[in-house]
Amino acid sequence: AAPSSRPEIAGLDWQQLQESVAGCRACGLCASRKQTVFGVGNEQAHWMIVGEAPGEQEDQQGEPFVGTAGQLLDSMLRAIGLTRSEAPPEKQVFIANTLKCRPPRNRNPEPEELAACQPYLERQLQLIKPRIILALGRFAVQSLLGSNEAIGRLRGKVHSYQGIPVIVSYHPAYLLRNLSDKARAWEDLCLAMSTLQAQAAR
Ligand code: URA
Repeated sequence: AAPSSRPEIAGLDWQQLQESVAGCRACGLCASRKQTVFGVGNEQAHWMIVGEAPGEQEDQQGEPFVGTAGQLLDSMLRAIGLTRSEAPPEKQVFIANTLKCRPPRNRNPEPEELAACQPYLERQLQLIKPRIILALGRFAVQSLLGSNEAIGRLRGKVHSYQGIPVIVSYHPAYLLRNLSDKARAWEDLCLAMSTLQAQAAR
């Protein structure tokens, strides 16, 4: 049976939150993970990118999006002047996932795993206070917007998570299999940039 302890995370600071994630046993994924994957980037980032869950590479390296999908994501970010590496806040992205642990064989996250992990993502968002959020794929969309609609129907508009603009786009792993949608993903990234710039100009 899945361990059922619920971490009390609402008041944690950044370091406490990292420690809490590292030691989390709130769902069954703690039994099969090599390590947790908290996220990458720094707390001052203006951009927050939310993916699905760590895969094999991420589980091994402890960093999100370091496999093939991550290379695609990085190259798209680079093309618009953004990076996960140390950078001024307006160029800095913080990348996190809805799940901090790898599901076995990269299966889809289960609802109870998403529910158990959601408070970590929420606290990350509260502490970072990003100016724009990019939700990649349906699990990120479910977590942030509570919507089960298809990405194709949600993309192209500006949504909101607690007052922060959210742009919905395709998951990079999907893009690797559906190259024809890459141009749309690029449009989404440009929409995120123009939304952020419009907000900064106000
Ligand atoms: N896919 C994701 O959604 N997140 C990762 O960190 C890697 C692949």
